[in-house]
Amino acid sequence: MEYDYLKIEGKSAIVTGGGRGIGRATALALGRFGVKVMVCDIRDDWGESAMQEIRQAGGTAEYCHCDVSDTAQVKTLVNNVMKAFGTVDILVNNAGIGSVSLPFEEITDEDWDRMLKVDLTAPFYLCREVIPYMKKKEYGKIINISSGSGIIGCEFCTHYASAKAGLIGFTQSIAKELGEYHINVNVIAVPTTQTPMLKETDFDVFVEDELRDIPWGRIGVPEDIADMVLYLSSDASEYVTGQVLAPNGGRRTPV
Ligand SMILES: NC(=O)c1ccc[n+]([C@@H]2O[C@H](COP(=O)([O-])OP(=O)(O)OC[C@H]3O[C@@H](n4cnc5c(N)ncnc54)[C@H](O)[C@@H]3O)[C@@H](O)[C@H]2O)c1
Repeated sequence: MEYDYLKIEGKSAIVTGGGRGIGRATALALGRFGVKVMVCDIRDDWGESAMQEIRQAGGTAEYCHCDVSDTAQVKTLVNNVMKAFGTVDILVNNAGIGSVSLPFEEITDEDWDRMLKVDLTAPFYLCREVIPYMKKKEYGKIINISSGSGIIGCEFCTHYASAKAGLIGFTQSIAKELGEYHINVNVIAVPTTQTPMLKETDFDVFVEDELRDIPWGRIGVPEDIADMVLYLSSDASEYVTGQVLAPNGGRRTPV
């Protein structure tokens, strides 16, 4: 007997930053399970190739250029999802930027503002646009992609850790407001994960040290996070809301 554990086939999703890394793995995973996926990114070549890969695997996907830190573009994105799929059931706020390591007194106003805009304000914009549709249906799954550094901090990356800590508080707050509408809102405290961002931000030099702290014996891969998003997008997590989940190989320090 086949048992449908996830019950997500036919749902529709927005995955921000779906062009590469964790967002791409998430978009592909949702597509594989029959979710209609709107991939959004600022890199059209990456976003379009993610869309094509989902289609080639037999799934349904669209692509929309969207800088999530721009309210007007976010509104257009959500209008496009409604036009394409008629509804939005799942929102994955994944798009984010990192930073090269920087003592905090060297962080400029521009660095600080840009980081908060993309990593914290943008998920607020996205939620503000999709939640009215979810409220009407009394159904919705919102998954915010934060970081372990949002819980324990991150030396030389204060603006990043501050934005990611804010995203945890944001998640826990709206989860309380939206419970009565049966909209689940959860946040993943992503650990160090092998993606292009890790290389570009020079934080990969800490991987050796981190490995000693991870009983599982390896650092994360994008699919670890995609699998957690699948669970949080599905009816298998019906009673899970306002939670911070940390798939981190049993890391000995708190996250
Ligand atoms: N890789 C890690 O070790 C790690 C650890 C903790 C948290 N995270 C978080 O996971 C998420 C994904 O990270 P990743 O490592 O896959 O990064 P990545 O850089 O490999 O991919 C990020 C994607 O987001 C897109 N993007 C960036 N700014 C955007 C914007 N303004 N609007 C729309 N799209 C935008 C990029 O073009 C890219 O496709 C981020 O929120 C990141 O902070 C990553």
